[in-house]
Amino acid sequence: MTKTAAILGGGVIGGGWAARFLLMGWDVRVFDPSPTAEETLNAMLGRARRALPALYDVALPAEGKLSFHGTISEAVDGAVWIQESAPERLELKQKLYQQVQSVCDPEAIIGSSTSGFMPSELQSCATRPEQIIVAHPFNPVYLLPLIELVGSDKTGPDTLDRAKDLLETVGLFPLKVRQEIPAHIADRFLEAVWREALWLIKDGIATTEEIDDAIRMGFGLRWGQMGLFETYRVAGGPAGMAHFISQFGPALEWPWTKLMDVPELTDELIEMIASQSDAQSGHLSIAELESLRDGNLIGMMRSLKARGSAVGKVLADHEKTIEPVMPDLMVPMITLDRQVPTDWVDGNGHMNESRYVQAMSEASDRFLLWIGTTPDYIATQGSWFTVENHVRYLAEVMIGDRISATTKVLEAKGKKLKLFYTIRCNGEVAATVEQLLIHVDMQTRRAGEPPAEMADLLTRIAEAHAAFGVPEGAGGTGRR
Ligand SMILES: NC(=O)c1ccc[n+]([C@@H]2O[C@H](COP(=O)([O-])OP(=O)(O)OC[C@H]3O[C@@H](n4cnc5c(N)ncnc54)[C@H](O)[C@@H]3O)[C@@H](O)[C@H]2O)c1
Repeated sequence: MTKTAAILGGGVIGGGWAARFLLMGWDVRVFDPSPTAEETLNAMLGRARRALPALYDVALPAEGKLSFHGTISEAVDGAVWIQESAPERLELKQKLYQQVQSVCDPEAIIGSSTSGFMPSELQSCATRPEQIIVAHPFNPVYLLPLIELVGSDKTGPDTLDRAKDLLETVGLFPLKVRQEIPAHIADRFLEAVWREALWLIKDGIATTEEIDDAIRMGFGLRWGQMGLFETYRVAGGPAGMAHFISQFGPALEWPWTKLMDVPELTDELIEMIASQSDAQSGHLSIAELESLRDGNLIGMMRSLKARGSAVGKVLADHEKTIEPVMPDLMVPMITLDRQVPTDWVDGNGHMNESRYVQAMSEASDRFLLWIGTTPDYIATQGSWFTVENHVRYLAEVMIGDRISATTKVLEAKGKKLKLFYTIRCNGEVAATVEQLLIHVDMQTRRAGEPPAEMADLLTRIAEAHAAFGVPEGAGGTGRR
């Protein structure tokens, strides 16, 4: 059954939450008193529709229903998750919870996006403190998976676990924080770095651009895939972490940091930072910077997904939960349904020719899996190797387009298998591919017969598919 989330406050963060839930198939009900809230949130949703599906190699669930409401009671109606992303003012948030709790389902979870308040502060005037937790996200919420989940001693015993389970279904990575502290875990680091950066600018040692270069050209990339401790472990070499600490530990006693001392944010310092930032990035609008950021994040996250590493593991694991289930194999079937990601497009602004074959290859992998070519089968017995492909390029496919492939078995005789793929985009046939495969014994890596069970299944599928006729464009392979 479709789940419903209520979003209270639909700005930068609330809009990102709304987009994440919607694109993962939830209905979303929004309350935001600003007259421009609907317009702002729709603009964010437009960006998210281009970005989030580009991380996945399968289609996301059908989008949920978005609605805007003039009262809190309407917005929280039927919601199992209520996400508060109102401005960072304690009394405002506390008042909001009193209104929410007078009308919402007592079983619903109320998560706050607060960057700094502790759950006990948020809960202090609440009717049911156990219902309120911190669920602190990172901008853009529709791409970045980390959610810091924080409870207090008043939080219900299983609330954080229920929250974690629910958020995982929409592809998020909930990190349970063991104990409440102001600013949770991640913002503590950001605050420390921010303090150092302000000193470096005030003392004239670095500009905003030089500070950003120092991060993005070096350690920022290391942090993105290994974090702090795993990176230092590697730096310590075979001698290990203890050696690393004994080598660099003494530096902690030197005056390398001014963490406890904060520069006064005078008008002069603020002006210096603002004008340096204008010089650095003023040639780009915020919308242009946002799409640059999204494209960069997608590229890095997809690359990590290919290795199942860090944020990429979260993506890969979530993708498995929304993989298509095996359809009836006795009729030509959908073996691919996905959006065209940014990196599949070439200089002509359309999908590169090699990616048509990649799409076919993904479809092929799925079909072969369904007939029994599992990772275990490949490791211990056999597999199917492509010996020939015949591609017909029939229509352009653009970035963000949703493409599907239908697979038909043209011929299955012992170790020889001939498949035909029709790739469609926007209701039009964009390409056809005919693929000739040979079954291989993986011990000898030479052609060999598939097991009788697999061969029988393929024969039955080929006979059943023959009733659907010979597709236009078939006959391109096996002419040698
Ligand atoms: N911006 C970030 O990078 C970031 C990151 C993580 C968490 N947060 C936290 O998220 C929360 C929201 O921050 P933001 O950056 O989205 O701010 P924002 O100003 O972009 O959005 C706040 C929204 O709340 C609406 N609002 C005002 N009063 C309201 C009320 N009584 N009920 C419902 N909505 C109301 C406003 O109209 C606005 O649309 C804050 O608690 C902030 O600390 C922000």
